[in-house]
Amino acid sequence: MFSMSCPNNLPKTSWIILFLAIYSYCIFVLCTFYYSEKTPEYKSHPPKPNVKMSWNCSIPPSKTVLPDHPRAAAQDQLKLSNQSSVTVILIWTWPLGHTFPLSQCPPLVDSSHCFFTLNRSMYSVAKAVVISHRDVWSHSQLPQGPRPPNQYWIWFSLEPPQYLKNLTIMDNFINMTMSFRADSDIFTPYGWLEKSDEKENFTIPQKTRLVAWVASNWKAKQRVEYYTELKKHIKVDVYGKGHLDLPRNQTLQTLSTYKFYLAFENSVHEDYITEKFWKNSFLAGTVPVVMGPPRKNYERFAPPDSFIHVDDFSSPQELASYLLSLEKDDQKYQQYFNWRSSYKPVKNEKSWVTEYCKVCKALKEAPSYRTIPSIAEWFI
Ligand SMILES: *[C@@H]1O[C@H](CO)[C@@H](O)[C@H](O)[C@H]1NC(C)=O
Ligand SMILES: *[C@@H]1O[C@H](CO)[C@@H](O)[C@H](O)[C@H]1NC(C)=O
Ligand SMILES: *[C@@H]1O[C@H](CO)[C@@H](O)[C@H](O)[C@H]1NC(C)=O
Ligand SMILES: *[C@@H]1O[C@H](CO)[C@@H](O)[C@H](O)[C@H]1NC(C)=O
Ligand SMILES: *[C@@H]1O[C@H](CO)[C@@H](O)[C@H](O)[C@H]1NC(C)=O
Ligand SMILES: *[C@@H]1O[C@H](CO)[C@@H](O)[C@H](O)[C@H]1NC(C)=O
Ligand SMILES: *[C@@H]1O[C@H](CO)[C@@H](O)[C@H](O)[C@H]1NC(C)=O
Repeated sequence: MFSMSCPNNLPKTSWIILFLAIYSYCIFVLCTFYYSEKTPEYKSHPPKPNVKMSWNCSIPPSKTVLPDHPRAAAQDQLKLSNQSSVTVILIWTWPLGHTFPLSQCPPLVDSSHCFFTLNRSMYSVAKAVVISHRDVWSHSQLPQGPRPPNQYWIWFSLEPPQYLKNLTIMDNFINMTMSFRADSDIFTPYGWLEKSDEKENFTIPQKTRLVAWVASNWKAKQRVEYYTELKKHIKVDVYGKGHLDLPRNQTLQTLSTYKFYLAFENSVHEDYITEKFWKNSFLAGTVPVVMGPPRKNYERFAPPDSFIHVDDFSSPQELASYLLSLEKDDQKYQQYFNWRSSYKPVKNEKSWVTEYCKVCKALKEAPSYRTIPSIAEWFI
């Protein structure tokens, strides 16, 4: 509509008029931009391309208008805006040492009016404090000092109970939960299926090998025992430390050449279905043989004919002979891919930032009062 080119060879008066026009337009754009940046609503809309182009004919954007450092952004936002309309979300520690850009929520996650920070000086103005359990294992590591009224403490874990110490230190402190458990206040699964609008034309990757397993932790007794018995009856290629090498950038390609993948979880826990299922099996284009929660639990997240469950067989030997029968029967094997004509697997790739960003929307929908007397009682 308004083309922002900067022409050169024009008569003098036209030049001045043009200059004035462009100058006032740029001021106008700057002001709109500046103003809209102050209202958090802006955050949910990407700037329009023509607004960006206008920088070309004016002074470069100042730091105050477009802060690029997340902490600077938080400071500016708080200073510039009406404080009571901004929701400050304090991330108590980086989860397991993973850092991520605080001000870059994915477009599909509503993060308007929210501000994420790691600055503990903002504790007293924070609407919520997100506490990653793996990074906090004693009372002294929890926020100290008087707790602001109406503040929510949000408990976060992507790990099952057996990897969490001291759950009871959270007793009578927590208001909301965030985890892989579907009944959490904020559900943060390892992956999910997306319904396709059109019929997907999925091509089964070429198969040259039979069963793969990637194992790094040999202490999970149940699955190691199962594997030990299974391998007596069917060849299983094991990747991981002390076994076959699997470079990170070749994981999917390598696993895609197998007909089956052993998606054995290290802990059997409700809804605990990890990247072994979503990435190593589904994204790689292979059929998962699962060990974990019961079949019914898996079926809440994936079609019944998308996986094979060890519980469907009375013994590892029986499972082995079923897999061997599928090896010889292409038509039957291909039925494990029928679901792919209407669903696409998604692994939560940028998981940390996506999960933390969900806190914003959850706070908007949270009851004004809620408290969880015991995390342990719910989670274990
Ligand atoms: C300004 O516009 C010119 C020509 O349209 C383009 O080549 C240049 O990359 C632009 N500069 C910036 C900073 O966008
Ligand atoms: C800030 O916003 C609240 C409601 O969102 C309003 O009641 C208050 O008057 C505003 N304060 C200022 C200084 O604008
Ligand atoms: C943390 O926040 C406080 C209070 O808003 C501010 O004075 C301080 O400069 C901030 N620290 C950092 C490192 O941003
Ligand atoms: C559990 O919490 C208590 C009380 O804060 C603390 O003394 C203890 O060291 C913690 N235990 C572990 C294993 O961290
Ligand atoms: C799948 O294939 C059909 C027929 O060849 C085609 O009409 C359709 O557009 C394809 N769908 C996708 C998502 O590629
Ligand atoms: C994988 O990464 C290694 C080293 O980082 C590199 O040498 C190799 O070419 C990469 N392979 C592929 C298929 O990208
Ligand atoms: C959160 O839980 C604490 C401890 O039970 C309670 O004091 C506080 O009022 C709760 N906050 C909200 C917003 O429900």
